[in-house]
Amino acid sequence: MASMWDERYATEEYLFGTEPNAFLVSQRHLLKPGMSCLALADGEGRNGVWLAQQGLQVLSVEASAVAQEKARKLAAQRKVTLEFEQADLAQWQWGENRFDVVAAIFIQFAPPALREQMFAGIRRCLKPGGLLLLQGYTPCQLEYGTGGPSAAENMYTEPLLRAAFADMEWLHFAEHDEEVREGSGHHGMSALIDLAARKI
Ligand SMILES: C[S@@+](CC[C@H](N)C(=O)[O-])C[C@H]1O[C@@H](n2cnc3c(N)ncnc32)[C@H](O)[C@@H]1O
Repeated sequence: MASMWDERYATEEYLFGTEPNAFLVSQRHLLKPGMSCLALADGEGRNGVWLAQQGLQVLSVEASAVAQEKARKLAAQRKVTLEFEQADLAQWQWGENRFDVVAAIFIQFAPPALREQMFAGIRRCLKPGGLLLLQGYTPCQLEYGTGGPSAAENMYTEPLLRAAFADMEWLHFAEHDEEVREGSGHHGMSALIDLAARKI
């Protein structure tokens, strides 16, 4: 899996751009300097680096070494420090009550069994009061074909997220179709689903 991503990332271009995800930026009012943050499957670091620029202590976890090298370069350009860990999230030790924020932006590489494992990891590794900031695609994205996996089972629906994060306080939820311009990787009209939720 990492080698497929390594191949996609093996270009000078930043596949998903160097600017942070717009949903993440829209939730900046929830972020405070000093918060500990896990940037999940953080790719070339556009989100982890932006979170570090907001003063958060970021752990950027990603399977692709090629992407992570580009993330390190972006962090150096923006003069911020992050902790980087190259890891397969299927094997990763999530820990417990560890992070104030988990950024889960477009982590839909995971089919249902791995997704369940990862969502359980997110719930566990957040501290009480910690925030989940998640954006993904709904099944309608398969018609747009402007980014994301081609497997319907990897997509998110409201019932799926309600079941996974039922015991959290939902602060913001939306399903919306938008033009997305995130490098060449996410480009064009997209069927998005957003969740900001707090662990109780
Ligand atoms: C669609 S990209 C999103 C990257 C980043 N979150 C962003 O929004 O720019 C999905 C990322 O998941 C990573 N990935 C795929 N399988 C993984 C796994 N098993 N463990 C960790 N990362 C993985 C890929 O290398 C890729 O960087």
